[in-house]
Amino acid sequence: MLDKRNELNAWDRDHFFHPSTHMSMHARGETPTRVIGGGEGVYITDTDGKRSLDAFAGLYCVNVGYGRQKIADAIAEQAKNLAYYHAYVGHGTEASITLSKMIIDRAPKGMSRVYFGLSGSDANETNIKLIWYYNNILGRPEKKKIISRWRGYHGSGVMTGSLTGLELFHKAFDLPRDPIRHTEAPYFFRRPDRSMDEEQFAQYCADKLEEMILAEGPETVAAFIGEPILGTGGIVPPPKTYWQKIQAVLDKYDVLLVADEVVTGFGRLGTMFGSDHYGMKPDLITIAKGLTSAYAPLSGSIVSDKMWQVLVQGSDQLGAIGHGWTYSAHPICAAAGIANLELIDELGIVENAGSTGAYFRSELAEAVGDHKHVGEVRGDGLMAAVEFVEDRDDRKFFDPAKKIGPQVASALLERGVIGRAMPQGDILGFAPPLCLTRDEADIVVKAAADAIKSVFSNL
Ligand SMILES: Cc1ncc(COP(=O)(O)O)c(C=O)c1O
Repeated sequence: MLDKRNELNAWDRDHFFHPSTHMSMHARGETPTRVIGGGEGVYITDTDGKRSLDAFAGLYCVNVGYGRQKIADAIAEQAKNLAYYHAYVGHGTEASITLSKMIIDRAPKGMSRVYFGLSGSDANETNIKLIWYYNNILGRPEKKKIISRWRGYHGSGVMTGSLTGLELFHKAFDLPRDPIRHTEAPYFFRRPDRSMDEEQFAQYCADKLEEMILAEGPETVAAFIGEPILGTGGIVPPPKTYWQKIQAVLDKYDVLLVADEVVTGFGRLGTMFGSDHYGMKPDLITIAKGLTSAYAPLSGSIVSDKMWQVLVQGSDQLGAIGHGWTYSAHPICAAAGIANLELIDELGIVENAGSTGAYFRSELAEAVGDHKHVGEVRGDGLMAAVEFVEDRDDRKFFDPAKKIGPQVASALLERGVIGRAMPQGDILGFAPPLCLTRDEADIVVKAAADAIKSVFSNL
């Protein structure tokens, strides 16, 4: 057993190119290799036998929890009957067609079709192409710019990495590319002027967006993309009335809205979609993670009626759309999606995310909110973050070199709970499986309070 473990360790250091990993430290063995062997409910177990409560649901994706027999059976059955057939020129499978219908039934009003991909990144690449195609069909070839937000996360492809508004994802990759622009992050805690209240700050963000549209020329601005609640950028809910104010600016200049619901789709905020939760009126919705709870890789671009009507004119003018991937609507992934959406309904997962989420966030705020190095405890549904500051009154942030966020995440892991040190700022994030119980939430809160205490008492 130990031999096998050592062998895997060596292979890992020598051959495995890990995403989002410090490459040289990992190759030298200075960062841990953790080999995960199993999962059940909200827990994962590594091959050394250590069990951890996964309070980030993998990468906020294992929404129904680990080890669900129903999804495993659906995958096995589909693999036996028909492992693959493509979806080109009108082909489908029972699984892919059924899942399209199930998604549209659950989507916000006004949605029409689903184009399937495999990752959140590729779904956003599809969205960008559809936006450009749409404006070409409408005879507006200059209307192509897409405005994203600083701290937004929309993937790490060439164009989606450009949409992402985090420095780490641009640095040394020659990103962002044209025609992507970034506007203000709706990050109330970091607002430039602390005398603003939430609604004033929301207005400030909407004014900044309008200024940018006017400076660029409204005839050149095609779309605005945003996560309903900022995720990887720090788990930051929008300030009150933000989406209403943004929507008014978009409507004024005929700018499409893409709601990136890769994290929020299928229940995370206690509603099926974040767009419904915050009153957004998207033209495109990006979905991925929660669609299959990550039991198989599957994503989608949900297209509104309004855009669909124009896209079909495109085929009348240009012929079949020149966009397609081998694995689009893969039947094994679609079967996983169907079983997952059924399970979400059967288990009342969406309601649980709302009620247990509210409990978890209020217990967390109660346990750590008064700590002198906690600047803010925030979140919505089953997403929460604790932001650390050197000085609460001056809102002074720590020197990033101190790596406070990663230190707290490691201290938490030592206590048997996984949280995530968010990549920009000292922020500990939580996004547990949506089946979390109150007892499990208590375990996370206690471990977080102990971890925070221990890191700052050693500082
Ligand atoms: C909001 C959002 N959009 C897109 C993506 C990219 O998804 P993927 O990693 O599947 O490419 C992510 C990933 O975390 C995300 O959080």
